[in-house]
Amino acid sequence: MNPVMPNPEGFGRKNPFRATLLRTRSLTGPGSGKDTRHFEISLSGSGLSYLPGDSLGVFPRCPPSLVQATIDALGFQASDRVQTATGQDVRLEEALSHHVSIHRASKKILYGLAERLPAGSSERSRLEALIADEPAAAEFLHPRDYLDLLKEFPAARFESPQAFLKMLSPIQPRLYSIASSPSAHIGEVHLCVAVVRYQTFGRNKTGLASGFLADHTTVGEPNIPVFVQGSAKFRLPSDRSRDIIMVGPGTGIAPFRAFLEQREIDGGSGRNWLFFGEQHRATDFLYQADIEGFLKRSVLSRLDVAFSRDQAAKVYVQHRMLEQAAELWRWIQGGAYFYVCGDARRMAKDVHATLVRIVSEQGGMTPENATVYVEETMARQDKRYLKDVY
Ligand SMILES: Cc1cc2nc3c(=O)[nH]c(=O)nc-3n(C[C@H](O)[C@H](O)[C@H](O)COP(=O)(O)OP(=O)(O)OC[C@H]3O[C@@H](n4cnc5c(N)ncnc54)[C@H](O)[C@@H]3O)c2cc1C
Ligand SMILES: NC(=O)c1ccc[n+]([C@@H]2O[C@H](COP(=O)([O-])OP(=O)(O)OC[C@H]3O[C@@H](n4cnc5c(N)ncnc54)[C@H](OP(=O)(O)O)[C@@H]3O)[C@@H](O)[C@H]2O)c1
Repeated sequence: MNPVMPNPEGFGRKNPFRATLLRTRSLTGPGSGKDTRHFEISLSGSGLSYLPGDSLGVFPRCPPSLVQATIDALGFQASDRVQTATGQDVRLEEALSHHVSIHRASKKILYGLAERLPAGSSERSRLEALIADEPAAAEFLHPRDYLDLLKEFPAARFESPQAFLKMLSPIQPRLYSIASSPSAHIGEVHLCVAVVRYQTFGRNKTGLASGFLADHTTVGEPNIPVFVQGSAKFRLPSDRSRDIIMVGPGTGIAPFRAFLEQREIDGGSGRNWLFFGEQHRATDFLYQADIEGFLKRSVLSRLDVAFSRDQAAKVYVQHRMLEQAAELWRWIQGGAYFYVCGDARRMAKDVHATLVRIVSEQGGMTPENATVYVEETMARQDKRYLKDVY
């Protein structure tokens, strides 16, 4: 089913394919507190293939305006030559945009600034105090990029572009759960990306990769370096008669769009149940038309939505799970797979606790036995409790 082709060029993390953006659209509407976008990217000619459940790695580039402003604050020229960590001789402009990360500061720069300030000066003492206090340094650095620091400590002058470059870390790729089935969109990969935007020190800032995709990719030009990151476990059941339950609030919906597209094409008898949540139905119902289409065509057997901010009290996906506890337990007893995707810090933990509670209450087990059932039997033994959380 998967239009798998060999990957003769060996495209991968070390040799990313320069992919072309085909189409993009907003998934959030005017008035939303979020900016979540759908991207359709061509993998045509790459030989790259993927399966629902895989992720796409994206190597971002830094916005040109931030690169130029940082070079200006340093007092260097965009055309100055530097050596990258891999020994390439490039323009400073290219190094700061393609090779190293300048959009968020890390601790090394505190040393670099301190040693360039006069001993005993109040500025140097301030930096030394931060260097000695790990939590304070982390709190200080969190809202700042290198430009903020260069402006805050103008007396610290870097003697050469190379000396500044030594303070920086290589750009790391970001992963995005693939939101398309390769059988439904031949040669394409779709992503659902929440754009990170915030303001500190009077400047608008963006997350490096989400900002790059949203603001600096161009339709039709092969300018997005990507690779496929296969998933070892986050897969549809090979037995198409098995039911699946998908819990995917926010961008967690991404792999489940891929799953539903694939299940529709595969045409098995297994039922599909989706729990989706976002802030407001009117502005944040990501992939509403697709989801309603799946419902209409009976690809989705059940849909439960939790729009957290449409009423006075917060309603989350796990509240909907509790409302449907008896039916959920019937599906689980019948061998359903249980998938969770999205926020790892809070949502996945709360959904896990709710699943244990449902198993305990509906299955008549002690909380300890329910935990064993969920974590040992479902997850480890049956491999039917699967997570893609970040
Ligand atoms: C397996 C996997 C799958 C994923 N799938 C998806 C997906 O489908 N869709 C998706 O959108 N994301 C997904 N992610 C997350 C994604 O990889 C990135 O982490 C995310 O897009 C942010 O990256 P960025 O480069 O835009 O932001 P970064 O440049 O990494 O910046 C993010 C950081 O900015 C800082 N920041 C944010 N707000 C503020 C503020 N107000 N003040 C100061 N600092 C702030 C925070 O410290 C935050 O950690 C996935 C992650 C993994 C590991
Ligand atoms: N590194 C980054 O900067 C970055 C960027 C993008 C995404 N992410 C990660 O990706 C996650 C997904 O982001 P997203 O914008 O797609 O969606 P999200 O922030 O997870 O929000 C989606 C829905 O989940 C709700 N929610 C909040 N806490 C919850 C909980 N404990 N249990 C269940 N639902 C909960 C939200 O409600 P309320 O908002 O009303 O509380 C909202 O309705 C983020 O939380 C974050 O972990 C990280």
